[in-house]
This record gives sequence, C-alpha cells and structure tokens, in this order.
Amino acid sequence: MKIMLDIFKKAQENKYAIGAFNVSNLEQIKAIIQAVQKMKSPVIMATSEGESKSIGKKQIKAIIDVYRQETGWPIILHLDHGKSFEVVKEAIEAGYDSVQFDGSELSFEENVRITKKIVEFAREKGIENIEGEMGYLRGKSAVQEAVEIKEEDLTDPKQAQEFIKETKVDSLAVAIGNIHGVFKSTKNPHLFLDRLEEINKGLANKVFLVLHGGSGTPEEDIKKAIQLGIVKINVNTELRMAYTKALKKTLQDNPSQTTPYKIMLPVIEAVQKVVEEKIKLFGSDNKI
Ligand code: G3H
Ligand code: ZN
Repeated sequence: MKIMLDIFKKAQENKYAIGAFNVSNLEQIKAIIQAVQKMKSPVIMATSEGESKSIGKKQIKAIIDVYRQETGWPIILHLDHGKSFEVVKEAIEAGYDSVQFDGSELSFEENVRITKKIVEFAREKGIENIEGEMGYLRGKSAVQEAVEIKEEDLTDPKQAQEFIKETKVDSLAVAIGNIHGVFKSTKNPHLFLDRLEEINKGLANKVFLVLHGGSGTPEEDIKKAIQLGIVKINVNTELRMAYTKALKKTLQDNPSQTTPYKIMLPVIEAVQKVVEEKIKLFGSDNKI
C-alpha cells in the first residue's frame, strides 16, 4: 500500500502540508511523537547525512518501527539531503520509507543522471517516495548572518518540467526564495510566490512540491505556499533553537540536577511545542 503517497495526495487535494521534522536523538523523536499524539497529524521524521550518522540509520529505523507498532500512526522515516548515490542506498537498505537525493549543487545534467539512477534503484526496493531537488538553497540549519538570494538560485519552471519527465521523481524540492536556517539580525526573506505558482502550473500535480527551510519563513507565506501546491515542509533550525534554549535554561536553573531524563523533560516539552505550532500552521492536524 502506498501509505506515504496517499498522505501526500490527500494533503494536495485538501490543501494542507505535512511537516518533515529533523531529528538526531531520542528526545527529539519523543517530542514529535507527543505532538503527533496531541495533534493527530501524519508526520515525517527526517535525518540529514550528519543526523543519520549520529543516530545511526538502522537504529532510528528500529526506534520508529517501535513507535509505529505501538501507535499504528503513519510516522514516515525520510533521508533528508542525501548527497550521493551511496548514502541514499544505505538509507534504503536500512529500511527508510522515503529518500531525498539533493543534486542541486551539480550541473542540471549530472543532477538528472544521478537522480535517475537513484529512482531506478529505489523503485526496485519498493521505496514509495523519492524526492529530487532543483535550484540552489542557500544557508544552513543554524542561526546565521543574512544571505542574499539570487535570481539564478531559483528553480526554473521549464527545467523543473524536464527534470520530472527525465527522472520520474515523486516529489520535488524547490528554491523559491526559501533559505535554510534563521537570520541573526533580520527577518528571513519573503518567498517568491509567483515563481511557485508558475512551477506548480507547469507540473500540473504530476509531482508533490516540497518547501525546505521552513524555519523563520513568514507564516503568511507558508499559508500561501500551501495554497499554491506545497505538500511537505521541512523544519529543522527552529527545533534546534527550542532544544538548546530549553537545555541551557534547565541546566542554569537546576545546577545540581544530574539525572539525564529529568534534565531532558523541559527540552522535550519545548520541542513538542514548536512541532505543534508547525502542525497547526501547516493545517495537518486532525488528519489521522
Ligand atoms: O532539510 C531540512 C530543512 O530544509 C530545514 O530547514 O533549518 O530552515 O528549518 P530549516
Ligand atoms: Zn533542506
């Protein structure tokens, strides 16, 4: 059964988006599970290459399986920004449900070539969702100095059509003025919604559109982007910020506390709160 593609299809038809939240430890996973339980929302747990290495691909697969069996909820495990065929293959072999190959730093031809190879391999292994990326997304999932977005960074609507035709990916991450991370001293930029509209029109629902860089993006832009076809939104930095802020405060307020699970309780709560807010904003609450 195509669980994930069904989730995306429903989101596309009913104009809401599914949050893909990055994780690298059990506390973050718990925070998301608690938010899912409260909000009744489908969810994607994503690990980047670094996060996958830290928690272990097989290890996170086993943890997610336990939660899935216990709850029966659609909790999807996704590889975020896999940058090589080998890394994507490793995730597939570890049992990930969904993978992204990010060839956005490569030439168009090279991006198409490797994405195609991954789609062929992943299909054979029964992977439901393969995400490609086109256009260049600046920034990193951290609090950083402002970065300038250039016209040439944005996804080209015509090229996007060619990319989909050639690679046959299920989902496409687009660059429409979004950035990874949050700016230190100024607000994150607005999205180029006209560009998104043009991309979406050209693709005519042949692919699920993905918005990376969900942190710090103006809320009204997120809502409009969902109306214009975005069905998956990736969020990392805001969760990392909530985590570290709560951890620092707990350690400061309780200097003699040495029990790890007690120290982590307010941290889990802080991350859960951000996840709940995002689920509400994306409109995926009460969908399971
Ligand atoms: O792939 C991960 C996301 O695009 C995260 O972006 O750190 O700006 O929320 P963010
Ligand atoms: Zn991203």
